[in-house]
Amino acid sequence: MRGVVNDTKEKPVCGIAGYVGPADALPVLLNALHRVEYRGYDSCGVAILNGRIETAKAVGYVDDLRAAIEDANGAASGAAAVPGSLGIGHTRWATVGSPSKLNAHPHLDCTGRVAVVHNGSVENHYPLREELRARGHRFRSETDTEVIAHLLEESGGSPDGVAEALARVHGPYAIAVLFEGSDAITVARRGSPIIIGLGHGENMVGSDVPAVLDRAHGFLHLEDGDIATVTAANVEIRHRGELVRRRVHHVNWGPEDVDKGGYAHFLLKEIHEQPRVLRDTLAGRITTDGRVTLDLKLDRRTMPEELFFLGCGSASHAAMVGETFFASLTDTRVQALEASEAVRPKRRGPGAWSVLVSQSGETADTVDAARDARRAGHFTLALTNVPESSITRTAHATHHLRAGQEISVASSKTYLAQLAGLYLLGLALYPPAERPRRKLAAALRKLPEAVQQALAMSPQLEQLGTRLAAAEHAFIIGKGINYPTALEGALKFKEVAYLHAEGYASGELKHGPFALLGPDTPVIAIMPRDDTYDRMLVAVEEVHSRGAPIIALTDCDNAELQSIAQSVVCLPPTEPMFTPVVGAVALQLMAYYCALAKGCPIDRPRNLAKSVTVH
Ligand code: G6P
Repeated sequence: MRGVVNDTKEKPVCGIAGYVGPADALPVLLNALHRVEYRGYDSCGVAILNGRIETAKAVGYVDDLRAAIEDANGAASGAAAVPGSLGIGHTRWATVGSPSKLNAHPHLDCTGRVAVVHNGSVENHYPLREELRARGHRFRSETDTEVIAHLLEESGGSPDGVAEALARVHGPYAIAVLFEGSDAITVARRGSPIIIGLGHGENMVGSDVPAVLDRAHGFLHLEDGDIATVTAANVEIRHRGELVRRRVHHVNWGPEDVDKGGYAHFLLKEIHEQPRVLRDTLAGRITTDGRVTLDLKLDRRTMPEELFFLGCGSASHAAMVGETFFASLTDTRVQALEASEAVRPKRRGPGAWSVLVSQSGETADTVDAARDARRAGHFTLALTNVPESSITRTAHATHHLRAGQEISVASSKTYLAQLAGLYLLGLALYPPAERPRRKLAAALRKLPEAVQQALAMSPQLEQLGTRLAAAEHAFIIGKGINYPTALEGALKFKEVAYLHAEGYASGELKHGPFALLGPDTPVIAIMPRDDTYDRMLVAVEEVHSRGAPIIALTDCDNAELQSIAQSVVCLPPTEPMFTPVVGAVALQLMAYYCALAKGCPIDRPRNLAKSVTVH
């Protein structure tokens, strides 16, 4: 079993890039930053060393920075605006200090001879700032990061000097630093991930793989406490002063995986990738007779006496689906919890299982929940899309989702992969009798096809989504295993289309929200023909009597629905427990087209970030 990561506290997400080699650093950095922009996009900047350190910064997207640099240099010149072949860059999701040019990274020391980009948080930045001020340092920004630049100014750029400066910093960090007079990028990590991309005669630095993708043939993850010196020809890593080696991973996806592939947005591309993602995530893991193989060996472990599913955002909705699915298979106590709300669990033996659902494996609240559960003696299992993430390092075991990189901030394909992961886990732990098991297995294996059919309904869903663009408020209702689908659909509308949509349990609507219903408040009802259908129909009739327009998402042609709903969408049928998969796809598409009609920045919604590594 691997050790528990201690330092998983505040770790703001941001994108980092670095380049050292024969090429002009600026275009390489701008392209790399563009690819990690989903991590934060309120401001950005680069620092390039060419004799002396030059910086360029902008508020907004990397394209704004590109345009600002072109403007400053005369777009026609085509010359490298900030020449040099050694540089670092950053795209920010503001925490300490508002999004502004002054607060954008890289941050410099007083002399302008040290430049730092940082992902993390300096928890003791107030006392350090006071102390440094007293020694004559002058600060330009409001950020916590700037203290690191000043500490490095005092300690110097040798690995020992860097270690000395970082020893003063409380809190997690991943940093990349330029020192005037050096031909290297210095990189260090504690608690926030950072990688080094290995090229031919050049090397890169990145907050994650997309930053190094187009030039690296391999990459390595730094471990907590590592300090690396990266030149064009060499990467030297020290840990507590000793030279160490880290395993080289091969890049098994190409730039096309982080391109839009002809789609207008990453979200649309990722929605359409879902049949393939389901195939990949199920491949080799379930036989036709329903026998499941997971990435972890279950036979050597105690069976759960109770199970907790924890996640945030979409992952918490997947956890809720998992709860209902498991409850259909076993009497074992199963509970889904929002990781951000979960109280520290009571001490238990390994019969208590905590399953941490997180596509990124970096969400601070979920990482904390993993750590707390492990401390409380639970067996911890990570269901994640990123094998080398904080959660996989914290948990006892991992089941990898294999959804591929998801770029759009709003989850789509990783949500479906999380659902599939939970279905597999349920069938592995609590296999039903042979006949129902075969039936479930057949339906699970057919899900990619069902999703493909749902995608083929795009024209109708586009029309409905576009119509919803006129609404200010909407309700999405569901029951049983599709109550979380309602929550997930509402989340999609909120985050990508800025529509105030509320996911509600259909039976609860009359306990308050009825007061809000009227002709301007559309209600989307998720009502596959399962044992919740009749109760859903009653709810829909009640809504109809209050004059609210209804969009029914069902899986059968139904005359009674035709007469009360304004629109009926007949989705491909599947097993009742798997209907959340098909329902989610329909809602994703409607939210996407609603956002498109409203002109929203679909892949990068305001104020959000792909993985939220702050509490
Ligand atoms: C952010 C993302 C959501 C995601 C949530 C949890 O809020 O915008 O799409 O569901 O984090 O992320 P995780 O990586 O833990 O699944």
